[in-house]
Amino acid sequence: MRILLLGSGGREHALAWKINQSVWTNPLYIAPGNPGTARLGKNVAIDISDFDAIGKFCIDEKIEMVVVGPEEPLVNGLCDYFNEKEELQNIYFVGPSKQGAMLEGSKAFAKAFMQRHNIPTAGYREFTLENYEEGVAYLQEHSLPIVLKADGLAAGKGVVICHNHVEAIAEFELMIQQSKFGDASKKVVVEEFLEGIELSVFALTDGQHYILLPEAKDYKRIGEGDTGLNTGGMGAVSPVPFATADFMKKVEEQVVKPTINGLYEEKINYKGFVFFGLISVNDDPYVIEYNCRMGDPETEVVIPRLKNDIVDLFVATFNGELDKVELRADPRSAVTVMAVSKGYPLAYQKGVEIKGLNENFGKSSLLFQAGTKEKDGTIVTNGGRVLCITSYGENIDEAVNTSLDMLSYVQFDGMYYRNDIGYEFK
Ligand code: AMP
Ligand code: GLY
Repeated sequence: MRILLLGSGGREHALAWKINQSVWTNPLYIAPGNPGTARLGKNVAIDISDFDAIGKFCIDEKIEMVVVGPEEPLVNGLCDYFNEKEELQNIYFVGPSKQGAMLEGSKAFAKAFMQRHNIPTAGYREFTLENYEEGVAYLQEHSLPIVLKADGLAAGKGVVICHNHVEAIAEFELMIQQSKFGDASKKVVVEEFLEGIELSVFALTDGQHYILLPEAKDYKRIGEGDTGLNTGGMGAVSPVPFATADFMKKVEEQVVKPTINGLYEEKINYKGFVFFGLISVNDDPYVIEYNCRMGDPETEVVIPRLKNDIVDLFVATFNGELDKVELRADPRSAVTVMAVSKGYPLAYQKGVEIKGLNENFGKSSLLFQAGTKEKDGTIVTNGGRVLCITSYGENIDEAVNTSLDMLSYVQFDGMYYRNDIGYEFK
């Protein structure tokens, strides 16, 4: 099967690694990919926001399956673009329609969807310029802390947690009146703060049936002990010890099933991944966000634990046959540790040479590249999150120690990583 994977991060390197192992894959293209994916398939220089260019490539190269890594093309309607064009309709497209992707693309849509389907989530109200004054009054009376969320996509920066009313009203004004996140913050969701521990749960759905993938927990803060600024994710672990069978049963019954059934009932075309960003409050799951894609860096631990042929799963997804497959997961733990550029998540340097990428990391570890590029025959940094090393272990402790050992073979100027990924589970 001729497959095109869209994206260029560590998530896509992990997906490419897995797709490349499928008996179906021949060949694999990645657009635009990175130097890591170039070892597993052929990178093609296509801008993934250019739907016409993607469509033309698929026709020219007789692509039979498209797998979408990041949310943006989905939120902008790439799936619908394929469905509307006769010559693209028959391609196995893995990713939801524009309407389905609104679970991630509009916080207000997601909240209303959860209300309609009785899915546990924090209480909320939504505001725009039209009811701005009412919003200010609402904030003044709100218990602390207050969570403000820009409605639309804001590159992961649209959620602000405010610890006093003055700060909340100032942020509210910035979002709505000053368009802090452009059109994305024309509408703002004001939400109750939930106190608990977070968990990332992933389903693959054909729009009616689903399979649950291994769960994961990511570490968003830059500093050890979960301190400092938020990042795209500094590491992840899977499985997650507090996600017991009892807890996961609640997740399935209270969150996953009502979500998939809700999509089905509302006739929303959704064939792809659903990422449930959950928080466990006194051992009960609440949804803090949906994403219409896999997580990053969660993918770098979830996919290595998946034993099924992933292309088999994608074919079943497209054909509406996910009720006929059974997930098989590696019982070992997987931990990934992300190495980032000095200064990240604030300003950082790019173009720094990376050494050690060709080391033999052994059977227990995998190196996934994220923000890297090739320059004059060497591989240099090209982003904040540069690469990660995933390791398997009998437990989280063993897996993280292996990743830390392996990271000592890789070097670039200003390289930083957290030594404490998985600390609460050791
Ligand atoms: P998001 O951009 O939706 O992933 O939100 C970013 C982070 O904000 C989440 O991972 C949580 O840590 C936090 N967060 C979002 N909503 C809430 C909430 N209602 N209560 C507590 N923390 C939240
Ligand atoms: N790791 C969180 C995300 O991918 O959104």
